[in-house]
Amino acid sequence: MTIVGTGLSGLVGSRVVDTLGKTHFFQNMDLSVGVDITNATQVRDFLSKTDSDVVIHMAAFTDASKAWEQRGDTAGACYKVNVVGTQMIAEACDAFGKHLIHVSTAFVFDGKTEDMYEEEAPLSPIEWYGETKAKAEEVVQKICSSWTIFRIDQPFRQDPFPKLDTLHKLAMSLKAGSATPFFNHWFAPTVIEDFAYALEWASQTKPKGIFHATVNEKVSDEDLANLINQQHNFHAEIHPSDLLEYLKKATRPYQQNTALRSDKLRQAAPHLPFTSLREAVARVDFSNL
Ligand SMILES: NC(=O)c1ccc[n+]([C@@H]2O[C@H](COP(=O)([O-])OP(=O)(O)OC[C@H]3O[C@@H](n4cnc5c(N)ncnc54)[C@H](OP(=O)(O)O)[C@@H]3O)[C@@H](O)[C@H]2O)c1
Repeated sequence: MTIVGTGLSGLVGSRVVDTLGKTHFFQNMDLSVGVDITNATQVRDFLSKTDSDVVIHMAAFTDASKAWEQRGDTAGACYKVNVVGTQMIAEACDAFGKHLIHVSTAFVFDGKTEDMYEEEAPLSPIEWYGETKAKAEEVVQKICSSWTIFRIDQPFRQDPFPKLDTLHKLAMSLKAGSATPFFNHWFAPTVIEDFAYALEWASQTKPKGIFHATVNEKVSDEDLANLINQQHNFHAEIHPSDLLEYLKKATRPYQQNTALRSDKLRQAAPHLPFTSLREAVARVDFSNL
């Protein structure tokens, strides 16, 4: 297949291309081919000329702390990339009959529940990045007739990448001898290599709806630190810390639990790889840290 993608140079996108690039041809719709995704004309021109019938939209303003500094600013970069950019892509996809696969985040939820979030849970963002991503989800559903939304959480990859993922950040501290992970911050990470196959499935079958793509296991930072420590024999000291104490001095709101349940994807596409967290952690390469 030829697949148009945005954000293919990012932490997630570049690994998706590594994973699927031998069997599919990716066209990156970005500035290198003269497309600013917030420019309607440039997006329409590009999509009017491609043979691809699917667009995987991963480009986003992802720095939640910088996003918080722009809160309320609909002229700011975060809103423009995440909401206006998504709108331009959604409109062009709809005009040219392309299926839009939009990549979203667990930060569309407030993190206040103890359970894992289901796809149908009401959106409840508590900070600006999450708010713009929630708005983008609404834009996709309102504009497109053919769409899939995937929500992912704390994605990690097997190989090192300049922007360190959660797992590599934790491993860096552990390798240095000690870590202070939160015992009361929970999530369910996304194995990017598995997620790539979920994107391939959605590109081929074009299912309409929202899917969570995670390991389907709710863990704390402390749990993950212990797992890395054991699996990679780091012998580091782990000193659990309290998220609620940290939040007293934090400059922006922070979700306490972003764990997403992913049963729906497992039932819809049981043939996909669903690597357990233990297995996925074991195979990560930390040699370059
Ligand atoms: N990483 C996470 O923890 C996480 C968690 C949940 C969901 N997500 C979602 O997963 C997706 C991928 O995230 P990521 O971590 O891979 O992001 P990333 O590493 O920050 O990369 C962002 C990508 O978006 C592109 N981009 C940013 N602004 C752009 C613009 N104005 N026009 C065109 N492209 C632009 C960047 O291109 P350049 O390199 O050219 O700037 C880059 O390829 C995003 O939709 C994000 O919301 C990420």
